[in-house]
Order: sequence, then structure tokens, then C-alpha cells
Amino acid sequence: MGRFDGKAAIVTGAGRGIGRAIVERLTADGAKVAALDMNIEDAKASGAALALQCNVADSASVIAAVRAARAAFGRLDIAVNNAGIGQAAKDGSEQFYGAMAKRNEELAATGQSDVIVDQLIHMEDDGWAAVMAVNINGPFYVSREFARVLAEDGNAGSIINISSTSAQSGEGSPHYVTSKAAIIGLTRQLARELAPRKIRVNAVAPGPTNTPVMAGIPDEWIKSMEASIPLGRMANPSEIAAAVAYLASDDASFVNGSVLVANGASYYF
Ligand SMILES: NC(=O)c1ccc[n+]([C@@H]2O[C@H](COP(=O)([O-])OP(=O)(O)OC[C@H]3O[C@@H](n4cnc5c(N)ncnc54)[C@H](O)[C@@H]3O)[C@@H](O)[C@H]2O)c1
Repeated sequence: MGRFDGKAAIVTGAGRGIGRAIVERLTADGAKVAALDMNIEDAKASGAALALQCNVADSASVIAAVRAARAAFGRLDIAVNNAGIGQAAKDGSEQFYGAMAKRNEELAATGQSDVIVDQLIHMEDDGWAAVMAVNINGPFYVSREFARVLAEDGNAGSIINISSTSAQSGEGSPHYVTSKAAIIGLTRQLARELAPRKIRVNAVAPGPTNTPVMAGIPDEWIKSMEASIPLGRMANPSEIAAAVAYLASDDASFVNGSVLVANGASYYF
């Protein structure tokens, strides 16, 4: 017997990393899971009961996917807003990484550097908008359609949003940090508004987690990041999935509007 037997879930960004671990965990606990991802091949490979191509930044795509999951499973109980991106074209990352490399070179050669490493002044409107579209418009579109379906069905449920420690620390790029702080506001507002419909809304704020996005980060950054975490390591995706599963379960039946911090004690909310 699993704790999600008879329940149906949708997970966005489910093709890899934390999203895939969430699919695996909810499925292992008995849920039927629809994996929504831009990359349909990765969504299929997640082992979910249903794989759907979906761009969370596009409300029509979200509506179609949420309705398809409900049609396939006959109900929906859990929605996990996990899809997220850290950078986009024209967002100043190129200049940021270029300056960082130059500064590191100078530091290695002479022990000092005047290079300023920044991103904001290089960020174009499109770069800002692209990250906000996925990280904050996406959870709004998904939560809205999920709530519509549950309202039609008269069903209770649970929404879990994936924030980040960066919302607390401020570490990261302007659009990413802003979006991960905004999703906490969305969590708190929806928790209050949807409570009369018996839909709980919570967030998980992971610290650095060992997913494919970490592959592009230089080794020395990873080492210094890990050294700054009191537990001395990054999270495994399954540890973030366990936090999500708790919030989705009846064990969290009185937990609503909360942010569950899973960051090895790096920061406190
Ligand atoms: N990895 C970390 O250290 C870390 C830390 C804190 C928070 N997070 C958050 O956790 C979530 C997952 O992170 P991850 O490291 O597993 O990322 P990842 O890049 O490994 O996986 C993200 C998945 O989302 C999909 N995706 C991207 N844009 C999409 C879109 N528009 N529509 C649908 N799917 C889309 C990708 O195809 C990919 O399968 C993100 O919201 C991220 O901000 C990650």
C-alpha cells in the first residue's frame, strides 16, 4: 500500500533532475503521474504513467496538458510546479561568465583583479522576460488550470511549488532570484485563497542539488559551494523529492502556505 494509492499527480519539468526524482518518488508511493516537460523524450524516460510535451510558459500548452492528464487519470490530486530555468538568451550571462573567467585568470596570475563581475547592466528585456515566463508565469498557469479542474470535480488537492535557497540568500542572477522569491508570494496567496476548496499550497526551497544543471559549473565553484553548506555536500534530487512527497501527503494535512527549506542549513527562512 502506498500513501498516494488512487491519487493522480502532474509534475512539470519532469524529464530530468529534481522533477524526474519527484516522478519516481510519487510513482513509488502509488500515484499515477503525468510528466510534463518541454522535452518529450526525457518525459517519456522518466517512467511516469503519462508523458506530455508542455511548455509551462505558454498558457495554452499548460491548459492542454493539465486537461489531458485529468482525462487520462479521471482525476487530479497533486500538482508540482518544478520546471525552472536559471538563464536565457540575452540575459547578460555571457558577459557575467566572461568577466568571471577574466577575474579568475587575473587572480591566478597576480593575486588581484579590478574586474567587476555583474549581470544586470547587460540584461535585455527579453532575457529577463524569458526566465520570468518559465519560473513564475508557468506556476501561475499550472496552478490556475489545476484549481479549475479540482473546482469542477469538487476534489481536494495539493500544490507544491519549487522555490530556491537563493530567494533567501539573494545569490544568483536578478531574474532567477526574483522569480524564486515571487513563487513564495504565490504560494502564500494561493494557500489562503484555495483553502476553502481544500487545496493546500506549499513550497520547497532546495539548496544546491546535484542535477544536470550543475554539470556546467566549474569544479572549484562546486567545491567552494559545498564547503559553505554545513552538511558539507549538495542535496541529491531524491532528498528534494522526499520533501515534496511529504507536503503532498496527508501527513502534511495542516501544513499550508509553508516553505520547507531543504538546504543543509545554509540559510533559514
Ligand atoms: N539544482 C539545484 O541546485 C536547484 C536548487 C534550487 C532550486 N532548484 C529548482 O528546482 C527546479 C528543478 O531544477 P533542476 O536542477 O532539476 O533543473 P534541470 O535543468 O535539471 O531540469 C529542468 C527540467 O525542466 C524542463 N523545462 C525547462 N523549461 C521548461 C518549460 N518552459 N516547460 C516545461 N519544462 C521545462 C527541462 O526540459 C528539464 O527537464 C527548478 O525550478 C530549479 O530552479 C534547483
